[in-house]
Amino acid sequence: MRGRASKAASTDSSQDLQQRATALTPELAERLVAWERKQGRHHLPWQGVRDPYRVWLSEIMLQQTQVSTVLAYFDRFVSRFPDVKALAEATLDDVLALWSGLGYYSRARNLHRCAQAVMAEHGGQFPPLATALQTLPGIGRSTAAAIAAFCFDERATILDGNVKRVLTRVMAWGEDLAVSAHERALWLAAEAVLPALAADMPAYTQGLMDLGATVCTQRKPSCLVCPWVDLCQARMQGQPEAYPVKTRKLKRSRRESWWLWLEHADAVWLVQRPHTGVWAGLWTMPLFDSEEALLAAAQALNAPTPEPQPPIDHVLTHLDWRLNPRRVLWSQPPATTALSQACGVGAGGRWVPLSELSSLGLPAPLRRLLDARPII
Ligand code: ADE
Repeated sequence: MRGRASKAASTDSSQDLQQRATALTPELAERLVAWERKQGRHHLPWQGVRDPYRVWLSEIMLQQTQVSTVLAYFDRFVSRFPDVKALAEATLDDVLALWSGLGYYSRARNLHRCAQAVMAEHGGQFPPLATALQTLPGIGRSTAAAIAAFCFDERATILDGNVKRVLTRVMAWGEDLAVSAHERALWLAAEAVLPALAADMPAYTQGLMDLGATVCTQRKPSCLVCPWVDLCQARMQGQPEAYPVKTRKLKRSRRESWWLWLEHADAVWLVQRPHTGVWAGLWTMPLFDSEEALLAAAQALNAPTPEPQPPIDHVLTHLDWRLNPRRVLWSQPPATTALSQACGVGAGGRWVPLSELSSLGLPAPLRRLLDARPII
């Protein structure tokens, strides 16, 4: 009974939202398109090209990462892999190496898989429809819509975190977006306010992104310069920052690990992480769950005593991770098979010359640690 009642309530509120969206149509889109053409960002390297490869690459990089950080990575990526064929033919290690430092490495693995799928299943051309783009690895509904709108003028809506904020505010929609029925209702409302003219889709889509990034910001929205200032229901209520509402918070956890840092003749011993989990596929020094386990491995190898180094606190979206490096400078290490066995990685380890680190995918804190290593 309770389930039915709450379902009915959310249907009511969804209909209410749809009415608010309809009432704002077509004014919302027309104003945003005009604002974007005058005030929006027009000089980013992936804009104005209508090249699905570049737009796709930029959209994947821009998930969770700011424009200012993405710019340098984007340029390096397209110089090295100028088209989807070049990216599909690269090794995953090469892709991860270029991605190193951007974080969220599953994006890089999916990028590589997606390029291969575009070559194998679509003759090297990205399909020109959001519904087809969405079936490719790593391309979600919003990213598919962005590519389709920017490159093919498709009337498909994006709905990333920024856009949820902008739309729930202008429509003063305070339902909890952690409830999937509410999120679905917001997708429908976002579709209802799309511009009538397909040719306006690139400017409209970029407008939503720019409004969310530069005007309708999370904490201090600049309502006086907003093209929707007199339409915005949340502003009329006096507290735009109250939207959106999302109750489910990310559950964070803590972890502590010990890094066995073996160095020999200007090379460092690295192992490749498994292809799932944190840092999947990246190269790191062997990790242990306790100092005792690390010392036992060192002792089994007859290594000199590992020297403690200052701990590193690495913050991921879901995890606070303390890494404790223990360093061994070793003039006569044993054979690589013994090392691999003691570090519990089968045949997955190797000595990597320090001069070759830039060609491997390394987690950012490890790269920083090795770049700043004390020369003894
Ligand atoms: N964030 C996500 N996509 C973007 C784009 N195309 N331009 C600027 N910021 C973005």
